[in-house]
Amino acid sequence: MNRVKVVVTGAAGQISYSLIPRLVDGHTFGDKIVDLELVEIPQVVDKLEGLVMELEDSNFPNMGNVNYTSDFEEAAKDADWFLLVGSIPRGIVFNGKKIEERADLLQINGGIFVGQGQAIGRFGKSDAKILVVGNPANTNALIGRHAANNDSQLWMAMTMLDSSRAKSVLSKKLNIKISDISKMIIWGNHSPTMYPDFENVVANGSPGRDLIDDMDWINTEFLPVVQQRGKAVIDSRGASSATSAAKAALDTVIACENPTASGDCFSAAVITDGSYDLPEGIICGMPLMTSPEGKVEIVRDIVLSNFAKDKIKISTDELINERAAVEDLLK
Ligand SMILES: NC(=O)c1ccc[n+]([C@@H]2O[C@H](COP(=O)([O-])OP(=O)(O)OC[C@H]3O[C@@H](n4cnc5c(N)ncnc54)[C@H](O)[C@@H]3O)[C@@H](O)[C@H]2O)c1
Repeated sequence: MNRVKVVVTGAAGQISYSLIPRLVDGHTFGDKIVDLELVEIPQVVDKLEGLVMELEDSNFPNMGNVNYTSDFEEAAKDADWFLLVGSIPRGIVFNGKKIEERADLLQINGGIFVGQGQAIGRFGKSDAKILVVGNPANTNALIGRHAANNDSQLWMAMTMLDSSRAKSVLSKKLNIKISDISKMIIWGNHSPTMYPDFENVVANGSPGRDLIDDMDWINTEFLPVVQQRGKAVIDSRGASSATSAAKAALDTVIACENPTASGDCFSAAVITDGSYDLPEGIICGMPLMTSPEGKVEIVRDIVLSNFAKDKIKISTDELINERAAVEDLLK
């Protein structure tokens, strides 16, 4: 039987608690046996013993070998998938300093991704797929990809949660099922500047641009609700989205592991290559598809309105600024 080796960082965190069991439940990777490498920082790695006990006690039929470690290089050996969830949150005291500024956050987390990227490039499988969840996800992925220096591997930053949120808001507005909505593209950064593309979405077979003519609703409801949803969850829960983020990570894996239905696409941020006139060398949300041969590719035939182009530029400008803030990590 086929096996797949999956590395998860931040394995003792709240997203991982929802995510990890569902990697071995026989759904995400189909009937493959899933070997897990769970990675944490040395201070909390021992907590993972309890998680491993719970996994064993859950009797998942597709669970293979499970190891936990704080040695990322060891974990990375021959891995097929890397789910990089671990990062330092804003507000934490790090090396005696409270981390409040986005620039500090970019530097600290970026530093983590240099080491992890180098290890993935050297020790991960040549066709490994890497999904960065830990924020700032796009710029972390840019740093990791640069450090990996291995073009045969695929680095993505997660925007699936944003696309799921956009579908949810749209389904309520149009009074249709989520499953009747496809092609929900998130352009740009995983941040409040992201642009959920309501014009190219397909709902019940019709393009969004034909279904939604209420620009007031787009500007005052749809865009702000989707863009600010992460903050709304934090304000209510006192913690960031966890179970929905885990589901989105699983949905991204499933989207990459299975051919995309004709005419559909899925959302993740990947390195720009000049398509859609996006600035090159940033990790930007784009429409993707998985070919029948299993290759993940950018969908290149989406038509963007001037409204969309203006919104996307705001987000790509932000990504360019983030890149400038971590220039020293990209040498
Ligand atoms: N892209 C998205 O859509 C999305 C959505 C929600 C949350 N997030 C982000 O995901 C990240 C994790 O969220 P959470 O709620 O699970 O946080 P959490 O604080 O509960 O868990 C993070 C874990 O990462 C670990 N960690 C830190 N540095 C590490 C390293 N170098 N190696 C391995 N582990 C490390 C920490 O010890 C901690 O256990 C945060 O950055 C959050 O902002 C992203």
